Amino acid sequence: MSPATVEPKPSAKGDELILTETDGNVGILRINRPKVLNALNPELMTMLATQMEAFDTDPKIHVILLAGSERAWAAGADIGDMAERSTFEMYQRDQFATWDRIARIKKPIVAAVSGYALGGGCELMMMCDIVVAADNAQIGQPEINLGVMPGAGGTQRLTRAIGKALAMDVILSGRTLSAKEALDAGLVSRVVPKEHWYSAALKLAQELAKKAPLALQLAKEAVLKAHELNLSQGILHERKLFYMLFATEDQKEGMRAFAEKRKAVFKGR
Ligand code: HXC
Repeated sequence: MSPATVEPKPSAKGDELILTETDGNVGILRINRPKVLNALNPELMTMLATQMEAFDTDPKIHVILLAGSERAWAAGADIGDMAERSTFEMYQRDQFATWDRIARIKKPIVAAVSGYALGGGCELMMMCDIVVAADNAQIGQPEINLGVMPGAGGTQRLTRAIGKALAMDVILSGRTLSAKEALDAGLVSRVVPKEHWYSAALKLAQELAKKAPLALQLAKEAVLKAHELNLSQGILHERKLFYMLFATEDQKEGMRAFAEKRKAVFKGR
């Protein structure tokens, strides 16, 4: 069944780069630079990382929803901001330190992706944990057409996600993938009709928010380690996290509720 269409709330103030709200235990962030298709400049990325960290340490928030707009999730890093910079300036300002902060967020991040997810936009999307893509999504790494290459993890995360053959094709040719191609390649896990681009992702975030928060966080950590550790190290890491969850009240509640044939009520401890 498709979810009822819920539009994101309009911005109260037009000039905020990131719009923030909460919906129950879901912390919602929306990228808000509509005039430049949500191009990601360092100021915006700093605000995004700061807001995500605030949600990450707020016990009332279990899941983060990151959305763009219907026309664009994000059409890349801000080209105007980079165009005339030197190597030294790019190196010195270390803009990727902000991206690294987002990579360290422990809570699951659901991405509501509609329209363009290009360059840094695709890289940001790949730093989220579950991607709900609208069927109008256009996803790619077109940096090659600007005389550069992906710089925020694209060559690494895309290759791990979809394999060398397709990643090489996308990165060297600069072509975009449709939502269907991205789904078939394993780059996104759900595609929804474009009118549900936001409501479907919000519904998923709300469903996740009802689950045991610590189990969500440790499961996220374990899956991400699969990209970094070899199999035996990864399995050992997983096992330690699994044992850790037996120190939580939510594990007792979850298993007792199953035995008692009732719905578990998780408390996040
Ligand atoms: C700055 C951008 C932008 C971007 C779009 N705009 N993308 N500004 N940085 N990445 C601006 C346009 O200049 C334009 O401003 C307005 O947004 C609307 O865009 P149009 O081009 O008029 O829209 P349309 O014809 O629909 O084309 C959409 C588009 C195209 C296909 C997405 O805008 C495009 O190719 N954008 C660039 C995509 C890209 O190359 N991304 C990679 C960036 S490099 P005006 O003022 O003219 O209305 C990158 C590096 C990552 O991401 C690593 C570092 C983090």
